[in-house]
Amino acid sequence: MTTADPVRRRVSARLRILLWLLLVMAVALGAVATATRSVLLRDVDHRINGLLVQEATEFENFVEQGIDPRNGARFTDPRELLRLFLVRQYADPDEELLGLVENPGTHPSNMVQQREALKFEPLAEDRTALIEVFESPQATGTVHRPQGDIRWAKVEVGAGTGHPDTAFVVAIHPAAEQEKAESIFTMLLAISGVALLMTTGIGWAVAGRILQPVRLVRTTAAQLTEQDLTRRIPVQGRDDIAALAETFNAMLDRLERAFAAQREFADDAGHELRTPITIVRGHLELMGDDPAEREETVRIVMEELDRMSRIVEDLLLLAKAVRPDFVTPEPVQLGELTADVFVKARALGDRSWQLAEAVDAEIRLDPQRITQAMVQLAQNAVQHTLPGQRVAIGSRSREDGIELYVADSGPGVTAQDAEVIFERFRRGTAARGTRATGAGLGLAIVKAIAVGHGGQVELRTTEGQGATFVLVLPREEATL
Ligand SMILES: Nc1ncnc2c1ncn2[C@@H]1O[C@H](COP(=O)(O)OP(=O)(O)O)[C@@H](O)[C@H]1O
Ligand SMILES: [Mg+2]
Repeated sequence: MTTADPVRRRVSARLRILLWLLLVMAVALGAVATATRSVLLRDVDHRINGLLVQEATEFENFVEQGIDPRNGARFTDPRELLRLFLVRQYADPDEELLGLVENPGTHPSNMVQQREALKFEPLAEDRTALIEVFESPQATGTVHRPQGDIRWAKVEVGAGTGHPDTAFVVAIHPAAEQEKAESIFTMLLAISGVALLMTTGIGWAVAGRILQPVRLVRTTAAQLTEQDLTRRIPVQGRDDIAALAETFNAMLDRLERAFAAQREFADDAGHELRTPITIVRGHLELMGDDPAEREETVRIVMEELDRMSRIVEDLLLLAKAVRPDFVTPEPVQLGELTADVFVKARALGDRSWQLAEAVDAEIRLDPQRITQAMVQLAQNAVQHTLPGQRVAIGSRSREDGIELYVADSGPGVTAQDAEVIFERFRRGTAARGTRATGAGLGLAIVKAIAVGHGGQVELRTTEGQGATFVLVLPREEATL
C-alpha cells in the first residue's frame, strides 16, 4: 500500500485507555504523596512548637522557684541563674539552649549548654541570627537562613534585675525532621513511579487483550466482500467485547443469508423468464407462411408475453414489499370491502360463488393491497376447482383481530406442499410441469401483503376437501 492509511494515524483506543489510566493514577498518587508530605511537615511543626513551649515553661518555673545553691537564696544575678539552669539541662540533638547576655552578637559572652549533635550551623555561632533573636520583640519566631531555618523561643529574665539584656533562648533546627518527611515524600514518589511503570506494562497488555476482538472486527470487516461473507470473528470469553463479536457475527449471518436470498431470487427470476423467451423464440423461428399457422404462433407468443409481463409485475411487487410504504392503511368499511372482493372474484370464472359472511366494522388497512391479495387467492381457488364448484369468500372478527378468507371445494393442499407454497417460485406437486398457471409467485405476494399489515396467512386444509386460505390481520393494527 502506497497511500497513507488515515485509520492508522488515529490515536488507538488502546493508547487512549492507557493514557487516561496513567493520568488518573499519576494525579491520585501525586495527591497522596503531597498530602502525606504536608501532614508530616505539619506534625514536625507541632512537635517543635510543643518542645519550644515546654523548654520555655521549664525555664520560667526555674526562674520562679530556683535557689542559688551557694547561698540558698533566690538568684540575684541572671547570668548565674542562666548558667546553673543550663548546666542541668540536656538538649535534644536538634536543639540548642542558650543564655544570651548583653548583645551576644558583638560580645561573645553567651553561654551554650549543649549542641554536640548539631549537624548544621548552630545559632550560637551565627552572630547575625543571634542578634536577630536577641533583639526581637517577640517571644517566639523563626530565623530564615540559607543554611537552614531556626525555630526559637525566648524568655527574657533581665527586666527588673538590673541586667535588662539577659534572655534564655531555646532554638530548634527543624531541618533534620523536615528531611525525614521529605525523604518519605521522595520514597512515595519513587513507589508511585514504579506503580505507574507497572501500570503501563499491565495496562497496555490488558487493554490490548480486551480490545483484540475490536481489532479483529475491523480487520474482518475490511476483508469482507460481497462474494465472501464467510469470515467470522472467533468469540472468546463472555464480556461485552465477546458480545460485540457475537453481534457482528450474527450480522454477518444475516447479511450472508440476505445476499444468498437475493442471488437465489435473481437466479429464480432469470430461470422463470428464460422459459417464455425460449418458447417465443422457437415459435417465431419456426413460423411458416400459412396464415392459420401464423395466427396460432401470434396467439402463443402473445400468451407467453402476457405471462412474462405478469411475472415481471409480480417480481416488482415482491421487491417493493420490503419497502415501508408498501402498504398505506386507511379507514375501511370491512363489510363493503368483502363485498367488493366478492364482485371482482365472481368475474374470474364460472363457479358457485358465495359471500359467506361479512363483518360490519371500520378498520384501518390498505384496501388496494388487501383486494389484490384476496383476488389472488380467488384466482388460485378458480384454478383448483371445476366449473360449478363452490368457492366462498368472507370476513369475520376474532379475538385478536380480523380474518378475510377464500374457501374452495377443490382437492386441497398436501401437508408436504403446505410447507413450501408460500415461498416464491414454489408450486405444489400437482401443479408442477403444467404451464397454465402462474410462476408460483401468487401466494408469496399474498403473504407479503399480510406481513405488511402486521398479520399472516393461514392455510386450513384437509386433503380432498378443499382449501381455505385466511388473511389474519391484527386488530390493534386494524383499529388504529
Ligand atoms: N386453492 C388451492 N387449492 C389447492 N392448491 C393450491 C391452492 N392455491 C394454491 N395452491 C398450491 O400452491 C401453489 C402455489 O400457488 P401460487 O403461489 O399462487 O402459485 P401458482 O398459482 O403460480 O402456482 C400452487 O402451485 C398450488 O400447488
Ligand atoms: Mg396462483
